[in-house]
Amino acid sequence: MPTEGSETSDVLQFRIEPLDASRHRREAFDCGVESLTTFLRERARKEVASKTCACFVAVPAAEPGCVAGYYTLSAATIALEQVPPELARRLPRYPLLPATLLGRLACDLRFKGVGLGRLLVVDALARAFLASGEVGSVAVVTDPKEATVSFYEKFGFRRLRADRMLLMMATIRDLLTGAAKGD
Ligand SMILES: CC(C)(COP(=O)(O)OP(=O)(O)OC[C@H]1O[C@@H](n2cnc3c(N)ncnc32)[C@H](O)[C@@H]1OP(=O)(O)O)[C@@H](O)C(=O)NCCC(=O)NCCS
Repeated sequence: MPTEGSETSDVLQFRIEPLDASRHRREAFDCGVESLTTFLRERARKEVASKTCACFVAVPAAEPGCVAGYYTLSAATIALEQVPPELARRLPRYPLLPATLLGRLACDLRFKGVGLGRLLVVDALARAFLASGEVGSVAVVTDPKEATVSFYEKFGFRRLRADRMLLMMATIRDLLTGAAKGD
């Protein structure tokens, strides 16, 4: 879980830290999906500067400056009518509810399949949960490509409609509490 103050976490052999264009070599990043590669290389710095998103990168402990993977978080809204009834039971009846968008997630081709994607998702969920203590957010939502729907299902994300998935903040709290207890 990201720690208040340090804004970094050391898990496996990676540190996860806010994107810093002066230190992180974005031009060398290649995840094999052009839009996600180009975003990090050409747009992430500007979108962070304009507060459109926050961007966090995984840096291998052995290669400072190398970007092994990244994710972005932004404020979002979800329509109450899209939340499955059993999940909506404890929510107020506002037509729109605050949420956190996990907008982009990608691992460099060199670092695929070693658990980095999982590490980034867990870090993103923990960060979103901590932030919801300061600015309300009832869920993390993401809009995955069809090929990665089953990846997100591993974390408990539920499909809302064809292109959107959701994980309630209450479920994230339980996941993080369970992880902290070693369950
Ligand atoms: C999708 C992606 C982030 C996964 O990262 P990764 O580091 O390769 O995944 P991990 O090694 O952490 O795998 C964690 C688990 O997810 C599974 N997994 C990995 N990629 C998957 C996929 N595309 N679909 C379904 N399951 C997947 C792994 O088999 C593993 O399962 P296990 O826990 O049962 O062993 C990565 O492949 C990537 O960057 N892809 C290109 C960009 C992209 O498609 N991003 C998603 C945007 S919607």
